[in-house]
Amino acid sequence: MSVNKIIKRITTSSILAMKANGEKITMLTAYDYSTAQALDEAGIDVLLVGDSAANVFAGYETTLPITLDNMIYHASAVARGAKRALVLADLPFGTYQGSVDEAYQAAVRMMKESGAQAVKLEGGLEIIDNIKKIINAGIPVCGHLGLTPQSINKFGTFGVRAKEEAEAEKLKADALALQEAGCFAVVLEKIPAQLAKEVTESLNIPTIGIGAGGDCDGQVLVVNDMLGFTKDFKPKFLRQYMQLYSGMVDAARQYAEDVKGGSFPNENEQY
Ligand code: KIV
Repeated sequence: MSVNKIIKRITTSSILAMKANGEKITMLTAYDYSTAQALDEAGIDVLLVGDSAANVFAGYETTLPITLDNMIYHASAVARGAKRALVLADLPFGTYQGSVDEAYQAAVRMMKESGAQAVKLEGGLEIIDNIKKIINAGIPVCGHLGLTPQSINKFGTFGVRAKEEAEAEKLKADALALQEAGCFAVVLEKIPAQLAKEVTESLNIPTIGIGAGGDCDGQVLVVNDMLGFTKDFKPKFLRQYMQLYSGMVDAARQYAEDVKGGSFPNENEQY
């Protein structure tokens, strides 16, 4: 007789409770079913279907070209692979900045068609009404401040943000506004560690950092980067936990050698 193991799903309430209890939150990106299964089995709390799929999955230089249909496709694959982790999906560039209604429609499509449990949007006060509308529809929202890659053409570089006083003050005000609007968490990307610490201490909702130091309530990395799958990408904030790219090159070379040399398949690998 098989015993069905009941897996308790991580929810936005669990994420808020982790901050209250001082438990660090783990988040990694995922774009496909198999990766989602592996990260879920490892006990990662949140799988972020990041629009970084545009970079690491599709090979674009920026995140701008990825569409809502593309993101729904990735998010639905991840949602099928995740049994425990909360699945959080990015709304892509151009689908939520234009108007409250446009943002609402994009978030509803993501939730209905992908099975994700929450959405992430880049920006603060300038999109606060759009965020409120989405939250009022019962859709949990995670904010994203600091380096917001969808604004790369405004910033000009992928460098550290909010080093200057004025930008740091705006970021603090944005973070409070996101909390007041009802966001359940906020990603802080590539900002000074001291600023991330101050923001983290000023909020009741958790901060999830990437290149924002160790005082955030949780950490997120792009899975391809931390697995060493992204070729020639090693920013200061990144810790690589394996060398998948070189491992794949070696495996593919070995396979080619075996096929060309006639040793694959052998008699145990045929019917
Ligand atoms: O798209 C993404 O992967 C992200 C993370 C870098 C936070 O937004």
